[in-house]
Amino acid sequence: MSVLSTSPAAPRNWDAGVKALHWSMALLIPLTWVLAVVREDQPRETAIKLMMAHKSVGLVVFALLLVRVAWRLTHAAPETEKTPWEPLAGLLAKLGHGLLYLLMIAVPLGGIAATFTNGRSLPFFGLFEIASPMAQNHDLSELIGGVHEFAGHALLALAFAHAVAGILHHAVLKDRTLLKMKPFARD
Ligand code: HEM
Ligand code: HEM
Repeated sequence: MSVLSTSPAAPRNWDAGVKALHWSMALLIPLTWVLAVVREDQPRETAIKLMMAHKSVGLVVFALLLVRVAWRLTHAAPETEKTPWEPLAGLLAKLGHGLLYLLMIAVPLGGIAATFTNGRSLPFFGLFEIASPMAQNHDLSELIGGVHEFAGHALLALAFAHAVAGILHHAVLKDRTLLKMKPFARD
């Protein structure tokens, strides 16, 4: 089964596991982004702390993503709501969700690679550190860091467009798209 396919026995709503993972990541990804962006104008000491927090929360995002992909591959998904613009709208939704998954994987991996190629260890909230397995290569780290930064902004922009699409489904098309992802719903 593909990561974006629906099962023959499609449930009415997304299951509780997907909802918990979706909404926790919908909070943590923008938080990770904000931590990186605000560090730019801070004094050195504060910037170092913010970058440590950025990397730590980013690692949590990556761990949740691995659980999410495994969960998604092993649990049935509800049917997509039909819009007046099929098959184009359905294809765009599939493409957008696929791209979101791709960026959710590539962005943290890029951040990890930028850190390791800089010869730095990965911090985790000051609890422990994962040492870099490679020697420092400043130019490569700069290159990967630049791609990571661009992809991080792209992830946020796409997630914003995705959220707008979800709200439009609810407010304009008045279908069940958003309700199927509603947290704490009973079924
Ligand atoms: C959802 C996850 C993540 C997002 C959205 C994200 C986003 C970003 C963004 C937008 C920047 C550039 C900020 C700026 O300078 O304006 C950045 C920088 C950086 N991030 Fe991440 N990041 C994520 C995860 C990670 C992880 C897991 C690590 C490493 C453990 C990491 C390491 C870095 C490093 C080292 C930089 C500085 C790059 C440089 O200046 O060359 N990031 N990140
Ligand atoms: C960083 C923020 C977000 C990311 C990365 C994200 C990512 C995703 C992904 C990848 C899916 C596809 C699920 C799958 O097929 O396995 C999805 C579904 C969904 N998301 Fe988000 N999302 C974010 C924020 C939001 C927000 C803020 C809303 C609400 C306004 C929202 C509403 C939905 C809805 C309703 C679905 C189900 C779509 C359907 O059933 O076709 N998401 N999200």
